Amino acid sequence: MERLQKVIAESGVASRRKAEELILNKRVKVNGEIITELGVKVSEKDEIKVDDTIISREEKVYYLLNKPRGVITSTNDEHGRKTVVSLIGETKRIYPVGRLDYDTTGALILTNDGEFANMMMHPKNNIDKVYVAKVKGILSPSEIMQLKDGVIIDGVMTSKSRVKVKKIDKSTNTSIVELIIHEGKNHQVKKMFESIGKEVLKLKREKIAFLDLKGLNSGEYRKLNHKEISKLYVLAKEK
Ligand code: URA
Repeated sequence: MERLQKVIAESGVASRRKAEELILNKRVKVNGEIITELGVKVSEKDEIKVDDTIISREEKVYYLLNKPRGVITSTNDEHGRKTVVSLIGETKRIYPVGRLDYDTTGALILTNDGEFANMMMHPKNNIDKVYVAKVKGILSPSEIMQLKDGVIIDGVMTSKSRVKVKKIDKSTNTSIVELIIHEGKNHQVKKMFESIGKEVLKLKREKIAFLDLKGLNSGEYRKLNHKEISKLYVLAKEK
């Protein structure tokens, strides 16, 4: 059983707050009866109408995309740039879970399940994201320690992270560094490197929890299965 306003919001008809207004304004019926108060719970079997139109109880879908460079992580873009949603052949209203920058590549989940998306993006969740960055310069041991212990970005300390230098190229003065974090602040990885004076030249998210990009070339995607989704729920809720 779920709260009526939540089901209305998830159907895409209105925001949660708007849905509450619809109920209080007596515009919502459950099984033909006008509902006048908040707090009513409904099941899959109940028929819900808003202004006498049945709302769709859409099947939830979940995709893993290998995002290419030069695509915006959004449902639409006012400048007409290509969006991650447009890469996926899905007629349901899906949206990205979190963000990858325009020039960042790699693993991105898209879904029409708002509850799942909120859970995945909750700052206290336990979902590791594995990034591989090509950075300018070579990290000193103390810079690596700073990244591991947490650095201040936008006035806030980041949580502890795991850092591994995978390759150093002295001829081009660049390094390949793996950084594992579970937070998702705006431009977090680039800002973390910036805080130790290192510029990110290239960034890829190789993994979200156990989901890697095996079998997915750039721009390709696949559906997540039930087992993967429930595993993500379990991980996100672990403390
Ligand atoms: N951190 C960034 O700086 N950019 C991304 O796209 C993802 C994480």
